[in-house]
Amino acid sequence: MNIIDIIVKTKRKEKLSREEITWMIDSYVEGIIPDYQISAWLMAVCFNSLSEEETFYLTEAMRDSGDKLDLSGVDGVTVDKHSTGGIGDKTSLIIAPVCAACGLRVPKMSGRGLGFTGGTIDKLESIEGFRVNVDFEDYINIINKNGAAIIAQSGHLVPADKKLYALRDVTGTVDSIPLICSSIMSKKLATGADCILLDVKTGSGAFMKTAEDAQKLAELMVKVGKSCNKKCCAVITDMNEPLGNAVGNSLEVIEACEILSGRQKDRLYDLCMILSANMLELGGFGNYDSCLEMAKEKIENGQALEKLADMIEAQGGNRNTVYDSSLFAQPQYSLEIKSDSDGFISQINSEEIGMSALMTGAGRKSKEDTIDFTAGIVLNRHVGDAVKKGDVLMTLYSSTVTDLSFAGERALNAVCIQSEKVTVGNVLINTIK
Ligand code: URA
Repeated sequence: MNIIDIIVKTKRKEKLSREEITWMIDSYVEGIIPDYQISAWLMAVCFNSLSEEETFYLTEAMRDSGDKLDLSGVDGVTVDKHSTGGIGDKTSLIIAPVCAACGLRVPKMSGRGLGFTGGTIDKLESIEGFRVNVDFEDYINIINKNGAAIIAQSGHLVPADKKLYALRDVTGTVDSIPLICSSIMSKKLATGADCILLDVKTGSGAFMKTAEDAQKLAELMVKVGKSCNKKCCAVITDMNEPLGNAVGNSLEVIEACEILSGRQKDRLYDLCMILSANMLELGGFGNYDSCLEMAKEKIENGQALEKLADMIEAQGGNRNTVYDSSLFAQPQYSLEIKSDSDGFISQINSEEIGMSALMTGAGRKSKEDTIDFTAGIVLNRHVGDAVKKGDVLMTLYSSTVTDLSFAGERALNAVCIQSEKVTVGNVLINTIK
């Protein structure tokens, strides 16, 4: 086989066979095909797309490029969730204990954040003593004991995606639906859960800027998952503003505890209940409506919060952290950002809020940077709210950046205020089963 023939075929919109795709991915991982030829192929995919069949073959070849986890040691149905990424997205910290409290098994391998995106693993590391590096045997034991574990990705999982994603990042080839689908699904399939829920975000702060593109990606991922004999479902959800109030590591864990305690009932709560109900339904716990009720009950009776405490204790942290936010390191500096006009909030640009949070020290500019766990932003207002000049829109926190005014200016510019009233759509846009 010859990589030039493969590039030319995709350039001419001719279909590639399973053998050609598998050979290309294997040869790339082995270093036989250089980056510049794969870059040319990726760009051809961006222009001409791939068929469903080709996307399936690509996903399969990527999944098989490294280790695959065997979760057969878990005693029960396992359900994993993947979100296509959002600012302030702490849903994994909420839905894992909610579903585990209902009896579902939730094995979760998560990543760290880079740039303005936050990583679940960084959030958990803001809890003193919390171990994210857990060996596979312990991982299975913790899941069997507590129902859920969230650990850092380890081992040699999907090396093809590591190489391809790094290359896509620097060649302007990230935003292709079949490439995003194969990247996400190969990782989900390699981590071994029986069922997969996909949360596809759409809006200003998402990869998929339009609901139409989000729908296409969601449908394709569900088809690929089902072709690999997984139970699969996708929800399309709104990302036109940060999710919840907090952006930043310990701030987000504290907010997750507020949701789990039942004290915070907002759009984030609604989304977490929708995600949990879909996961429980996938796991065979009943129909959607009864699963939704079950999830809500676990919040009301305190079992979901107690489950997060169990998870933290099992991974080396202090279980009381979920009941007492003073156990987190406290920020040294803060700055309130006030509205400079009267009106209604029409948009809060998530990416800009993410960039501002990065400037407070909450994220990494490069892989080697250390994170200030106390840093970030707490929003007081959301899209649709009426505001008056001088109202506090948000507060910035840090222990490493003494002058928060630059970050504050960026955050203020992320908020659009208009004179007309604003109608706010539902957080759930569609469900694909
Ligand atoms: N997330 C991924 O894991 N891969 C993509 O290509 C895009 C988002």
